[in-house]
Amino acid sequence: MKLSELKVNHVTAPLGFKITPLSFSWKVKDAGEAKRQKWARLCIFCEDNTVFDSGEDTSADSLDYQVDIGLLPRTRYTFSVEVMADNGESAKASSSFETGKMNENWTAKWITPDMDANTAAVLRKTFTVDHTDTARLYICGLGVYEVYINGQKAGKEFLAPGYHSYDFHLQTQVYDVSEYIKDGENTVMVWLADGWFRGRLGFDGGFTNLYGDKCYLIAELYVDNKLLIQTDDSWKSKESPVVFSNIYDGEIYDANVEDRLNSIDGWSGVILEAPEKCGELSDRYSLPIVKKETFNVVSMLNTPKNEDVLDFGQEITGWVEFDCELPKDIQIRLTASEIMQDNCFYNENYRTAKSEFIYRSNGKKAHVRPHFTFYGFRYMKVEYLDSKGSVINRYKEALKKTVFKAYHLRSDFDEIGSVQTGNKKVNKLFLNALWSQKGNFLDVPTDCPQRDERLGWTGDAQVFSETACYNMFMPAFYRKYLWDMRAEQSVLKGSVPNVVPRLKEGMVAEHGSCPWADAGVIIPWNVYLHYGSKTLLKECYPGMKAWVECERTKEEKIEGLHLIKDGFHFADWLSLDNPESGPFGATDPLYIASAYYYKCAKSVSKAAGILGYDEDERKFSKLASDIKEAVQDKYFDKDGLCVCHTQTGAAIAIEYGLIPEQDKDGIEAAALAERVKTNNNHLNTGFVGTSLLCPALTRTGNNEIAVTLLLNEDFPSWLYCVNLGATTIWERWNSVLEDGHINPEGMNSLNHYSYGSIVAWMYKDLCGLRPALPGFKKVVIEPHADKRLGYAKCVLNTSAGIYKSEWKYNEDGSVVYHIEVPFNAEAEFILDGKSQVLLTGTYDFSSATF
Ligand code: BGC
Repeated sequence: MKLSELKVNHVTAPLGFKITPLSFSWKVKDAGEAKRQKWARLCIFCEDNTVFDSGEDTSADSLDYQVDIGLLPRTRYTFSVEVMADNGESAKASSSFETGKMNENWTAKWITPDMDANTAAVLRKTFTVDHTDTARLYICGLGVYEVYINGQKAGKEFLAPGYHSYDFHLQTQVYDVSEYIKDGENTVMVWLADGWFRGRLGFDGGFTNLYGDKCYLIAELYVDNKLLIQTDDSWKSKESPVVFSNIYDGEIYDANVEDRLNSIDGWSGVILEAPEKCGELSDRYSLPIVKKETFNVVSMLNTPKNEDVLDFGQEITGWVEFDCELPKDIQIRLTASEIMQDNCFYNENYRTAKSEFIYRSNGKKAHVRPHFTFYGFRYMKVEYLDSKGSVINRYKEALKKTVFKAYHLRSDFDEIGSVQTGNKKVNKLFLNALWSQKGNFLDVPTDCPQRDERLGWTGDAQVFSETACYNMFMPAFYRKYLWDMRAEQSVLKGSVPNVVPRLKEGMVAEHGSCPWADAGVIIPWNVYLHYGSKTLLKECYPGMKAWVECERTKEEKIEGLHLIKDGFHFADWLSLDNPESGPFGATDPLYIASAYYYKCAKSVSKAAGILGYDEDERKFSKLASDIKEAVQDKYFDKDGLCVCHTQTGAAIAIEYGLIPEQDKDGIEAAALAERVKTNNNHLNTGFVGTSLLCPALTRTGNNEIAVTLLLNEDFPSWLYCVNLGATTIWERWNSVLEDGHINPEGMNSLNHYSYGSIVAWMYKDLCGLRPALPGFKKVVIEPHADKRLGYAKCVLNTSAGIYKSEWKYNEDGSVVYHIEVPFNAEAEFILDGKSQVLLTGTYDFSSATF
């Protein structure tokens, strides 16, 4: 047996992360005959001292082992974990963590370039070092920054410090820069740009200077644990080669300006000035944004309009890099798009986002990439421009020789799950949802990565969060999103904004819409169910409670039952069941809002129970049962059928446990099945209904209908999009029409993960793997085989270890099941109403003999 994935607060060997309260986790792999953890021992060391020793702890929780010790700032700790199993085998492994500045005061001062605020700047400082063993840079640059020491970029992350609720905190990064510092003279340069902080953000033209109207920098460099330099008025500033950049429009890079950085002349000073409207500096929560997969050009297209377009074969979020050698002042322009129209370049669905990258050559050979922007794209149009910006065709030969590579950028979390079936199109759908997750998790869970939005829409994030937690290891990522959410709630009387981080103007500043705001409870609850961290649940609990309290206070102001009685709600956004055109669904938004109110009150009561907040548990449990009664009174008829006669109406009733007692014969379930059948066996749900529909069908004995919906290939269906060449999930069921044209109704992102929520059903119902205890220490495995798929298998590297659940049809019509249960975990395997408890190990069953 071996120990693996030792983590501190869900991060491997964190450097400078917010790690209080301190919590450790680990996994056992290759367990052999070992089944149970007898005890675990965790020791923490600082230099040569043992600062913590748990001893042989028989109750040690491998998902969330909390340790309450005082930590010192800027200090490296190592730790070891030893696990003893029931069969006498043991294993031991070590890892480390290093604190950031914690609450330590900064000696450094905030500085801003003494230049026109609209000119992006590079800040510089030279310094001398006699000797270095270790060097650490503690830094925050606003809006976004890159640091270079002696010409080498520090660290592997991009777009630091990322996108967070700057009003409430400013996250700092720590870089191990030991390898870049040399004895003698050194130069540090920090490139600053607008980013989300002060660049254009928001649709309909958006807003600028949202969080500040200048760029700022603060930094301290420690060499061998001593403060060597810090930002102060001795720093210098100069115009940046990134002469223009923002998140939506892209970047213009002038290599001639880069040349000037090498000269020691012509530098201006800096001004000591701190960002005014921002929160305090804090250790980081955000995972770094890093490069992940790389894509080559799969075809170089020349269109009927004589456009040269690179096709990378997959819609990704990131940018394109290449080696460039063009005459001085000749420019190359790349423009992003998701789809071709009539074989020509098209990106009108990006709305006002220009999504360009322009590089002006200084006549020298260079490796070229954007710095302070990103693109959601599959295609890039390439053009050459003269010094004045007119398109020229002279460099077609250079184009042919240039090797373009697309790099996917996202927050640095790992993939943990996969589903595969005997149907290739379904497998493609799974991958498309995975790619929509990868493409929309760049520090913030965004609606889309390409047009003039890219915002942390809470509703989209909420409906997709269960799928997200199955596919990837998300606790650290969500920890930061939920921190921001709570911060925003703190000035909205507990209400949750439509987007987090909240934009302070326009409709993106609004809040409290169902089920967008319900993200405040549903996401932390899903995170708890999936990863089993009580520490994180406790951190999130105040925000969960605040949202339900906010709803209660508002609804109680209007006399009557415990229901949501007014307000604007996006509800079943973009569903197809409303005869009136527009994005709103037919299901009564107040029914949906009240059902979510119930769901949230219930989850808060459960969370309170887990955390030992007895009074809250009782209070919210009572509130939940009052809401349920009220919903049943108002929204269900005398037979117990929901009066919202839509697929979504029934799916909510079933999935949220709202079916009244008088519905003894399953009339809601039958009605749901009937509504699908009479709709030509197709769905017509929006954001809300789509995440609940297939689970509701399977749960009520209609898995066959759920699989029919999965396998439909004509509009509206998931495979309709697959057949039309989708490589990610679309915003609308028909964002692309059958003739290949973008839907003229507008609002058509081709990378919008919401309808990808079907993937959670693939894991939890098709393969049947769902948590019975938080963190998958105990699971239910209740697969639902369907001959049309041939087989289905999922592998899930949960916090408790790796599970496998597979089923396959034999030629004789029987089904074989293969199950794997990890060390110290347990599964209840359910088949045709019979069940069996499975401890750690590998199992094979046949439907013929089970
Ligand atoms: C976004 C959505 C979002 C919606 C709410 C859209 O523009 O792209 O996904 O949730 O607005 O109105």
